[in-house]
Amino acid sequence: MALVAREAGVRTQVVIVGAGPAGLLLGRLLEQAGIDAVILERRSRDYVLSRIRAGVLEAGSVALLERVGLATRMHAEGLVHDGCSLAFDGDVQRIDFQALTGRSVMVYGQTEVTRDLMDARDASGGVTVYEAADVVLHGFDGAHPRVGYRRDGVAHEIACDFIAGCDGFRGVSRASIPPAALDVAERVYPFGWLGVLVDQPPAAHELIYASHARGFALSSMRSPTRSRYYLQVPSDETAEAWSDAAFWDELRRRLPPAAAAALRTGPSIEKSVAPLRSFVAEPLRFGRLFLAGDAAHIVPPTGAKGLNLALADVARLAQGFAEYYAEGSSAGIDAYSAAALRRIWKAERFSWWMTSLLHRFPDTDAFGRRIQRAEFDYLAGSTAAATALAENYTGLPM
Ligand code: APR
Ligand code: PHB
Repeated sequence: MALVAREAGVRTQVVIVGAGPAGLLLGRLLEQAGIDAVILERRSRDYVLSRIRAGVLEAGSVALLERVGLATRMHAEGLVHDGCSLAFDGDVQRIDFQALTGRSVMVYGQTEVTRDLMDARDASGGVTVYEAADVVLHGFDGAHPRVGYRRDGVAHEIACDFIAGCDGFRGVSRASIPPAALDVAERVYPFGWLGVLVDQPPAAHELIYASHARGFALSSMRSPTRSRYYLQVPSDETAEAWSDAAFWDELRRRLPPAAAAALRTGPSIEKSVAPLRSFVAEPLRFGRLFLAGDAAHIVPPTGAKGLNLALADVARLAQGFAEYYAEGSSAGIDAYSAAALRRIWKAERFSWWMTSLLHRFPDTDAFGRRIQRAEFDYLAGSTAAATALAENYTGLPM
C-alpha cells in the first residue's frame, strides 16, 4: 500500500536517480537518518547486477559498509589484500600496504556490493522503481523540484526537496544542467582495457599491475576460483577481434615470468573492451540538484578508484542532508561540492599518475620509457615513494 501510494506519487524528501552503488548507498544512508527517498532506475534489477565492474574497496569504503550494517557477506566472502605488485618488463616490486600504511584493501566485486545494498533496501521496504523510463528533472533551480518518469507506459511525477543525480556518466542528471554552469575537465586516453573473466584460480594471490613494452596488463580476481585479467589494447579494438587463445598468449607475454607460468586459462565467461577516461564536471551542485559518483566524474580504472569515489561522495552528501533535516542547517549541503571535489581531484591525480606510469602511449619514445622505468625504480627503492602509492591506493581520508 505504502509502495503504491509513494510510487504513484506525489512527494518524497529526496529523489535519487540511479541504482548503482552511489544511488543505493545514498538511499541506505538517508534511510538510516530517517529521510524519505525514492530511487528511480532506468534498467531492471537483473540488468544492473549483470554489469561487470571493478572490485577493490579502500579501507574507508569497508568501514563505511560496516557502518551501514552491510559488511557480513563482504567479510565472509571478500579477500583482504595487504599489498599488490607492480611489474616492469618482468621485474616485480611488491607494495606492502600494511607495512607502509597499516591498512589493507578488500577485494569484493562491485556487483556484490550492489546486490547487498539492493537486498537491504528490499528488506527495509525502501522504494526503488526499476525500469523507470524517460526520467525528467524539473524545477531544481527553484524551491520545488519534481521528477517525472514513465513506468509500464504510465506517467508519474514525484515532488521533492532535493534531487540526487547518481545516474552514472551517461545519465540524465548532469545533462539537465545548463552547460554554461559546468566546468568540464577531460582526458581521453588513446587506449582501452580488454577484460576477461574466467573460472580459474588467479595467477597470483595479490593484484599485479604490469608495465610491458607491448602494453599494460593486470592480473586481478573476484574470488579464489574466479580471475579477472586485462590487457591494454588500442581504443578502437573490439572484444570480438580477440579469441581466448590470443588473449592468453598476449597476457603471458606481458605478465612477469612467475605469474605467466602460474596462469590458469579456460573459456572466458565475459570479454569486453572499456575505454579509459579522466573526467570531472564541477561544481557538483546546481540549485537543488546534486551530482555524485560517475554522474560527476570518471577515473581510468588503474588504481580502482571509481567505486570508492562514488561511495565517498554520497557519504558526504548524506551527511549534508542529515544536517539539513535534523538541524535545519544548510552548511553541509553548501560545503558538499567543494569538499568532495578536493578529494575527487586527488583520486583523479592518482589514477592519471598510475595510468601514465604503466601504459604504453603512442608517443612513448625511448626517453619516455626510461622515465617510466626510473619512476618504477624510485618506487622500488624509496619507502617515501612506495608509501605515497600505498596511501593513495588504500584510500585518502573520506
Ligand atoms: N534514469 C534512471 N537511471 C539511470 C539513468 C536515467 N536516465 N541513466 C543511468 N541510470 C542508471 C544506470 O542504469 C545505473 O544503474 O544509473 C545507474 C548509475 O550507476 P553506475 O554507472 O554504477 O554509477 P555510480 O553509482 O556512480 O557508481 C560508480 O560504477 O561505473 C562504475 O567505475 C565506476 O565503480 C564505479 C561506479
Ligand atoms: C578488477 O578486478 O576488475 C580491477 C582491479 C583493479 C583495478 C581495476 C580493475 O585497478
